[in-house]
Order: sequence, then structure tokens, then C-alpha cells
Amino acid sequence: MTAKAQPGSPKPRIFRLPAQQALINRLGFNNDGADAIADRLRRLRNSEGWPAVPVGINIGKSRATPLEQATDDYRYSFRLLREFADYIVLNVSSPNTPGLRELQEPAALSQLLRAIADKNQITRKPILVKIAPDLSPNGLDEIIATCEENKIAGIIATNTTLDHSSIPPPLDQEGGLSGAPLREKSSALVRAIIARSTIPVIASGGIFDAESAREKIEAGAELLQIYTAFIYRGPGLLREITAEL
Ligand SMILES: Cc1cc2nc3c(=O)[nH]c(=O)nc-3n(C[C@H](O)[C@H](O)[C@H](O)COP(=O)(O)O)c2cc1C
Repeated sequence: MTAKAQPGSPKPRIFRLPAQQALINRLGFNNDGADAIADRLRRLRNSEGWPAVPVGINIGKSRATPLEQATDDYRYSFRLLREFADYIVLNVSSPNTPGLRELQEPAALSQLLRAIADKNQITRKPILVKIAPDLSPNGLDEIIATCEENKIAGIIATNTTLDHSSIPPPLDQEGGLSGAPLREKSSALVRAIIARSTIPVIASGGIFDAESAREKIEAGAELLQIYTAFIYRGPGLLREITAEL
């Protein structure tokens, strides 16, 4: 979600590539904005409907907010939503909001993490940072150092990729690629983080079955995040993976 309500990209904006077990999406954070979402979550919490499982809230930058004001935009959402979240994710890696990935650079990330830490002194929610798979080794080192300095609770690796080289040109679309073609790249990033840091990692990218889930755990991940396979295979997939693991 984002601070301001926004419609996202024009439709169509999600493209299925079943032969590749992949998706390309350019949703662009279509959502009702932090105020409306806080109201909705408050109503849900006051009803019988609040889930027993932990709830994570993933925050991105509003498209209309200039990059220089990104910190205020995230801080606004954080203040409204932290009370509902068991953990909060700062998404600085969606490819579908212009400039968003620049927030992975050390000065910008450090400013963002300091501002959120400042607002987190009383609530003390675990803060996680979600990163792109398309980082240079040096870029990754800088992110890890910045996360460590700011006592970030974990890194989610990774978001969707802009590397579409595995997709036949007639099927290609603008947007972030997820699913099977992302699997190896995201596992490599998980290994690279684990080799450099003790920061906990939530692995995401191309988990389709128990084998690909095990690959992420063997890479050192503590938790797994699944999106594309959940779209193709539905909730039974989770039962299958947990049973086999
Ligand atoms: C339709 C769609 C919407 C997504 N929206 C978000 C989002 O709002 N925030 C975010 O951090 N990641 C988002 N992602 C990225 C996924 O959470 C996940 O990290 C990525 O797709 C790789 O995992 P997968 O291969 O299991 O899909 C989205 C992915 C898809 C396919």
C-alpha cells in the first residue's frame, strides 16, 4: 500500500506466462491509500475476522510523491498502519513506480531507515527491507551495511526482476518478471546475503514446490514468501510444501 490512494497502471497489467511458470506485472501499487486501509483494518480488528497468523504490511511510495519526499511518504503510511502490523516491509524494489529502486542507494536508504526507526521507538515493530534481484555485488554490500547500521530485522530477497532475457520476445511485456525464471537469481542473492551478514532473510522468487522451497532454506532463508505459484496453484500449494518439508 501507499500513503495516497492511486489507481495503478492502466489495464491489462498482469500477464500470465504459463509455459514459463511466470508472470509479468506492472500493477503500480493500485490501492486505496493508507487512511482508507487503516480504517478497513480497524474495522476488521474489531470484528471476528482478524487472522490468527501474523500480518505483514508492505509499504511503497505513492506515485505522485516526488522521490525527494519519499521518506515523508513512507513515514505517513508507517504511522497510520504500524498498529495493525506484526512486521512492516519497506518496499524499495518494485520496478513499477518510477525512481523507487533509487531508494536502495546508500544515502536515500539510510535517510529512510533512520526516519522509520525514529517513528518506531515506542511501537518497536520489526522493520524489513525488500530488495531487487538486479543489484550489483557492490550495491548489495551497501544495502546490507545500511540495514545493519539501522538494526533492520530482516531483508526480503527478492522482488521481481527487470531481466526478461528468458522470455520469448512475442510474450514479453513491460513490468516485473516473477516465478520460475527468477528462482536461481533470487536464491543466489539469498546466499550472497547469508555469506556477508547474520541479518535474517525472507526468501522470495520462484518457489513453486517443496524442492524450490528447500533450495531457499538451504540457501539460508528463515522464512519464505510465495506469490506467483500461489496465483497458479492456489492455497493447496502451501499444504503440499509444508507437508513435504
Ligand atoms: C501481481 C504481483 C503483485 C506484486 N505486488 C507487490 C507489492 O505490492 N509489494 C512487493 O513488495 N512485492 C510485490 N510483488 C512481488 C512478490 O511479492 C514477490 O516478491 C515476487 O513476485 C517474487 O516471488 P514469486 O516468484 O513467488 O512471485 C508482486 C508480485 C506480483 C506477481
